[in-house]
Amino acid sequence: MTSDPRPRLLRIGLPSKGRLAEVSAQLLSEAGLNFRRPERSLFARCRDMPVEVTFLRTDDIPVLCAEGAIDLGVTGADLVAESGASLVHRLDLGIGSCRLALCVAEGSDVADPRQLAGRRIATSFPRITRDWLAARGVTAHFVELSGSVEIMIQLEVADAIVDLVETGSTLAANRLRVLDEIGRYETVLVQNHHVCDAATADRIVRRLQGIVIARSYSLLEYNIPRARLAEAESITPGFKSPTVSALEDPSWCAVRAMVRRGEAHGIMERLEAIGASAIIETEIANCRL
Ligand code: PRP
Repeated sequence: MTSDPRPRLLRIGLPSKGRLAEVSAQLLSEAGLNFRRPERSLFARCRDMPVEVTFLRTDDIPVLCAEGAIDLGVTGADLVAESGASLVHRLDLGIGSCRLALCVAEGSDVADPRQLAGRRIATSFPRITRDWLAARGVTAHFVELSGSVEIMIQLEVADAIVDLVETGSTLAANRLRVLDEIGRYETVLVQNHHVCDAATADRIVRRLQGIVIARSYSLLEYNIPRARLAEAESITPGFKSPTVSALEDPSWCAVRAMVRRGEAHGIMERLEAIGASAIIETEIANCRL
């Protein structure tokens, strides 16, 4: 039997369902990795790159990436930590931010995690929780579950739970309160230590990085009297440094700088206060810095 001489395509694992499925597919598409998932298929071939996309359960992605079934994977940093898998962290994707919290019933008199020694804790994150409690000298009994953790106090199988909190509405609906925060996580791109096509993996990382940065920054352009330029530059130092161009009127100049999107309004007000005019914010679709 002869072995197949063709090199294997780089495989990237994406969440097949759940809240991350759509946003991660959208991120890849913005990075120019275009594919069409045939109905019910777990594979799709990218049109313009030697890449195959595999659709997997988000919580299986860390271990499948560590085992080499996929070269790159999009998953939660919480799931990577919980799996204990040895992976290369390539990129924070700026989506899916959440915190992992130790919670008790709203009316509970527990005020400190140490009061939970020997008590029952329901969670899908036993490894992270055990380590966190151990660092505080606490040993508890774990009820390990894969979902619906938020109702376990009500079902009287747990005295506390450890679950992900995003908006807090699940906690409110189940009359729970946060006792302590265990960690903050977001969606990440991870890589196997022996990636099959390192050059293509690096191209994907650079492309995604361009999109992630573009999503969190805006481009601000404005005119400023030269006499106030130094002040303006300290308000908008840019990603590396702002671009300053001359204007027809030698006492004025034009400035272009990247600013954090969430801070744009406040920055515009500060620029206006020092005499800037024609201040324009533009969204960035993609960038290479
Ligand atoms: C997660 C988590 C919480 C909820 C928190 O569940 O387990 O139950 O989201 O989000 P919130 O603070 O915005 O209410 P998810 O919807 O991912 O489903 P799961 O129960 O299958 O984990």
